Amino acid sequence: MISVYLVVFLTVYQTSAFNANNVIRNTELEFAFLTHRHGDRTPVPSGLPVAMSEKMLDLITPWGYGQLTDAGKRTGYKTGEFIRRRYGELLSPKYNNSEIYIRSTDSKRTQMTVLTAMAAVYPATVNNWSENINWDPVPYTTVPAKYDFNTAFVNCPKLTSYSNAAFVQPSPRMDKYSGVLAKVSDALGFDFTKVPNLAYAIYDLLVSERNLGFDIGKELTELMPELRLAANEAMDVIYGNDDYIALQAGVLLNEFFKYAKQITNGTNAQRVRVYSAHDINVYSLESVSQVKHRQGVPEFGSVFSLELRRMVKTGEYVVVPVYLPSPYETEIYLPVKNCGLPCGLDKFLEITSKYLLDVDTWRTKCGFTDDIVIDSGSID
Ligand SMILES: *[C@@H]1O[C@H](CO)[C@@H](O)[C@H](O)[C@H]1NC(C)=O
Ligand SMILES: *[C@@H]1O[C@H](CO)[C@@H](O)[C@H](O)[C@H]1NC(C)=O
Ligand SMILES: *[C@@H]1O[C@H](CO)[C@@H](O)[C@H](O)[C@H]1NC(C)=O
Repeated sequence: MISVYLVVFLTVYQTSAFNANNVIRNTELEFAFLTHRHGDRTPVPSGLPVAMSEKMLDLITPWGYGQLTDAGKRTGYKTGEFIRRRYGELLSPKYNNSEIYIRSTDSKRTQMTVLTAMAAVYPATVNNWSENINWDPVPYTTVPAKYDFNTAFVNCPKLTSYSNAAFVQPSPRMDKYSGVLAKVSDALGFDFTKVPNLAYAIYDLLVSERNLGFDIGKELTELMPELRLAANEAMDVIYGNDDYIALQAGVLLNEFFKYAKQITNGTNAQRVRVYSAHDINVYSLESVSQVKHRQGVPEFGSVFSLELRRMVKTGEYVVVPVYLPSPYETEIYLPVKNCGLPCGLDKFLEITSKYLLDVDTWRTKCGFTDDIVIDSGSID
């Protein structure tokens, strides 16, 4: 009995510790390194295992496949409000190139998202350049999809051939979802029970349809929470393999350490770095950061952030991983495996160092050659 009480006590204690501000109490924020998913979009062509109804096609046509919708702009704006709220202490009211680095993948939806997000980070109300235009231009940088380490899922042959195979390979980890997958198959009139990882693509498709105002029906609506759990598991099966997560986010994590080092040694560096990207990027940065509980499929506008903080008393540098499940929810803290919260910077480096890659090594490991032809259809 005693052990039962102890477990209950520890569980309650840990939960409150991870959700309350005592994680960051007595720390000073030094640096924020974050990647976020774009806002709501229309379905992507690669996520279309199911034939579209005429009505659905009519809804998609004005936007095109994989494009940010007006709901997506509102979500992106909310992501920006989160950035301003949580990291405003590192940013002036007006855009200043020496304070923030902004990079987007070469995809219309991530670019539009970061533009709307920055409209919230830098509202044009202070020292504005126009009396009636409530907008200030904020630039981002981008890299063609063929060369971007944040689009490994289209330009890293070793990864794409692995994940394409993993997608269609049934995994015993999906067995516990066979009931819900059968029900969803029935409701859709499309049997994917033999390819259970399709739960990831089907969930994505239904969310996109719903966000466009399409009625997916009562039955599918009721199945969505369970399908979401299956999608989380499928994402983990396809993209969570320890041998491949470095190809997905090892270079990105390397960037975190590169700039964290500059800050700890007193070199001037931008204190906020924003990478506008995709669900795989948010998920993979969590994975290489070795958080204890990966959060599954990141929702539109979700954020994963590595915060470099300094303990006020000791001067020690620590890392705090923060997850915003969606900009309509509150952020949570994710403890690091075998390190906890916060995690000392040196310990964090030791735990994650086997995943770190520089760009050249990453390309070599990917089997990248200049003449490869990439299929960027999923992110156009
Ligand atoms: C931008 O930030 C830098 C570094 O903090 C500062 O030296 C500079 O004066 C700022 N520029 C403007 C226009 O405020
Ligand atoms: C810009 O500043 C002027 C002068 O302070 C003010 O009258 C105007 O309302 C501001 N415009 C916006 C869009 O906030
Ligand atoms: C700080 O780190 C940067 C980048 O690694 C390096 O170029 C610089 O020499 C270092 N400065 C000091 C004072 O150690």
